[in-house]
Amino acid sequence: MFYIFTVVLLFLISMGHSAPPVCERLVQPLKQLEPHHLQGRWALVAGSLNHSSSMEALRLRDSITMYFSNSSETSIFSYTQINRFGDHCQSLPYNISVEGSTFTFNVGDRFNLTGSFLYTSCPDCLVMQWTVKSRRRASEDLYLLSRRRQVEQQEMKEFEAQVACYDLPAAAVMDASKELCPEQAETQPAIPEKTGAQIKEEAE
Ligand SMILES: *[C@@H]1O[C@H](CO)[C@@H](O)[C@H](O)[C@H]1NC(C)=O
Ligand SMILES: *[C@@H]1O[C@H](CO)[C@@H](O)[C@H](O)[C@H]1NC(C)=O
Ligand SMILES: *[C@@H]1O[C@H](CO)[C@@H](O)[C@H](O)[C@H]1NC(C)=O
Ligand SMILES: *[C@@H]1O[C@H](CO)[C@@H](O)[C@H](O)[C@H]1NC(C)=O
Repeated sequence: MFYIFTVVLLFLISMGHSAPPVCERLVQPLKQLEPHHLQGRWALVAGSLNHSSSMEALRLRDSITMYFSNSSETSIFSYTQINRFGDHCQSLPYNISVEGSTFTFNVGDRFNLTGSFLYTSCPDCLVMQWTVKSRRRASEDLYLLSRRRQVEQQEMKEFEAQVACYDLPAAAVMDASKELCPEQAETQPAIPEKTGAQIKEEAE
């Protein structure tokens, strides 16, 4: 990992850029986030996190859709994440508080999940940085969401550079040919990541 990081660093230096200024821009939270910009359906395009079993669970999902409710009056949004495993759609509803460009999942003391919306040059994308602290998992996550299923190569490169700035493993890129789940899927209680693999096994 350190070796790869060093190579990337040397590469950037040899290109006439130094890594820190590039990262400074790439890890910057958005200054302003229009609540309406969040509203609606987003597809997960790619993601990376430094917790290996959760990263494996991410790779097992055929598609992930995120829905944000319209919230003009309050800073509380409903956030529903729908994971597809084969024919199964698993719906995970949450409320999140958004303040400026930072957010907190409101899940009582089940776990702590906070983060921010980061800079992106992609006009119909969101880059979410998550900090997860639970009994089973302490991780740093980065997710690229878009209104599209696939982004342009240079947009993906920018996300990969963001992932490198956080020193995270190479991003898992979702298969854009797999269908997204509809917003109204069978609702299941929020369950551990491990169950994702079990659902996948049942589906096979
Ligand atoms: C979301 O809220 C804004 C302002 O309240 C409104 O203009 C817009 O039509 C709403 N969108 C939907 C899909 O309800
Ligand atoms: C979200 O907040 C609403 C209003 O307080 C509440 O009725 C609902 O149960 C909450 N949903 C979740 C998943 O916590
Ligand atoms: C979440 O954060 C609060 C306050 O920082 C702390 O008291 C609590 O133990 C944390 N919960 C978990 C599951 O880490
Ligand atoms: C992931 O990174 C965060 C922040 O650097 C760190 O607190 C956490 O312990 C790391 N988790 C693992 C599993 O390495």
